[in-house]
Amino acid sequence: MFQSSVPVTSDGFHDRAVEMGTLAAAIARLQAGAPAWMAVIGPRKVGKTSLVLEAVRRAASETLAVVALNVQEDAPPSPGVFRLYALRAVDALLGRDLGESLERLARVPAEYRRRLQDVPGFVALPPSLRADILDLADVVPDAARAAAWLQLPETLAAALGRRMIVVLDEFQELAALASHGRAFDPFPLMRSVWQTHTRVAYIVSGSARSMLLTLLTEEHSPFFQHFGILELGPFGRDEAISLLQRQSPPECPIGAEVAGRAVDMVGGHPFYLQMLGEALTAHRRAPDMDDLKAAIQELVFSRMGRLGLYFENDYDRLVGRAASLAATLNALAGGASRLTDIATRIGAPSGAAVRYIERLRDSIRRRDDGLYELADPVFALWLRWRQPGGTVVPMALVGDEAEKAVASALAAMGFDLVYQSRASRGSFDLLGLRGGTQLGIQVKRSTPPLRFGRTAWARMEADAARLRWAWVVASVDRQGAVAILDPTRAHRGREVRLDEAAIIENLLTWVDRPVAATRRSSRGIRRAGGASRGVRR
Ligand SMILES: Nc1ncnc2c1ncn2[C@@H]1O[C@H](COP(=O)(O)OP(=O)(O)OP(=O)(O)O)[C@@H](O)[C@H]1O
Ligand SMILES: [Mg+2]
Repeated sequence: MFQSSVPVTSDGFHDRAVEMGTLAAAIARLQAGAPAWMAVIGPRKVGKTSLVLEAVRRAASETLAVVALNVQEDAPPSPGVFRLYALRAVDALLGRDLGESLERLARVPAEYRRRLQDVPGFVALPPSLRADILDLADVVPDAARAAAWLQLPETLAAALGRRMIVVLDEFQELAALASHGRAFDPFPLMRSVWQTHTRVAYIVSGSARSMLLTLLTEEHSPFFQHFGILELGPFGRDEAISLLQRQSPPECPIGAEVAGRAVDMVGGHPFYLQMLGEALTAHRRAPDMDDLKAAIQELVFSRMGRLGLYFENDYDRLVGRAASLAATLNALAGGASRLTDIATRIGAPSGAAVRYIERLRDSIRRRDDGLYELADPVFALWLRWRQPGGTVVPMALVGDEAEKAVASALAAMGFDLVYQSRASRGSFDLLGLRGGTQLGIQVKRSTPPLRFGRTAWARMEADAARLRWAWVVASVDRQGAVAILDPTRAHRGREVRLDEAAIIENLLTWVDRPVAATRRSSRGIRRAGGASRGVRR
């Protein structure tokens, strides 16, 4: 099954063999009493948490406990995050025997203290450690306490003869504790407390790549050379294809061809693949290329699509109200560019462009050849789709040559083009939107005269009436030239024929006669026979 709303582990977890090996080695060092610290760095939603949780799950043993904490659970950051941290460690080491969460119980301090007395491991602890644990629920968090809380997991693990992995997600956000005049820098403190630990290993992760790398690898940083760095990126092509195939439910298997095309389009980002897999298999049948087109359109290239909304949110977060940053992103949507070209496109001096790029840092990367590009190619496509005339991007991505040609011809006339799912597009290939007009488009890969079977023709008329769309036939010749033909000027005989005389010279004036067009097409339906009359009702 596809899963895109929570980190995946166990059967749902895919690939990452190399990274798994690295984490397994770090965990083995902890078991040997010489813990190594690891940092997992990668873009948003690339699978950092899943990787760490799965590594820990595979290593799980009676003596190994795990604490996972996202630093942003305590927002805005305060020293209280370390209390939460200590409490969660206590919960992981003692809560199991209780069968209840000590972290939850701590909301009512008296109850927390009372229930702790029921935990066999607790009553056997040295008195000073017991006192620290009892105090946890109601002591007011402050910087002075932080050191004691950071020490507590090690002391408790040692007393219980166990080992522990502490996973801190979005670690870099703790930097906020040191800013805004708060007289507390957590990082030197953490380093000095942690470095004496032999029973606890630390894994940190985060999606602010450059910030985290600076924090962990710069010479003046307290963590300099303390962390092994594990950079996580999207899956390679083969792994991505196999994720789509392996996770698809048995009743709607994704074939190799569709999976391959899907990966060519959205790449190997596991979160995108999972969402695409969900969309592809939503109709409970083996998806074909048409389903792929509709799924990509719905997911990425629509205001309400899940990935579309995700990018919208990302875009707002990156750009805020800064028009200059928006312009910089848009200048890069078309592909890798030189700094001078970016500056020209946004109408700013190069010095300013450099600053904008710096502010957008993790979403833009500098390649080895010196060109700048957007780090996420799917985000780049989404940006292009939002630009004027950009609605042809999905067709350029998934359509054949004829569909691409028709899409750009119609876009030039101001239509927005959409792929619809089979259920909502009937027998048409594309939907064109312009103002209030909805135009169904049947694409023909030949030149007039165009011939249609009577049944196929009747189906198009019926679909147009049911969907309340105007409709046309688009003919594309071998050179990619497009002609639009008026179905009301068809010759009906044993087959239906559209001659050159049916070519519409000016589609915009043609569609702007909606009343006439509707009357014409409904007359067509009445003539078309019983089946379509049934549909009209
Ligand atoms: N190894 C994997 N196998 C299959 N799917 C994966 C894998 N890793 C990640 N995913 C998919 O990506 C989604 C996001 O994964 P996860 O939450 O682990 O990423 P993250 O990098 O921790 O995200 P965030 O930036 O939000 O912290 C998961 O819900 C899942 O759909
Ligand atoms: Mg995460």
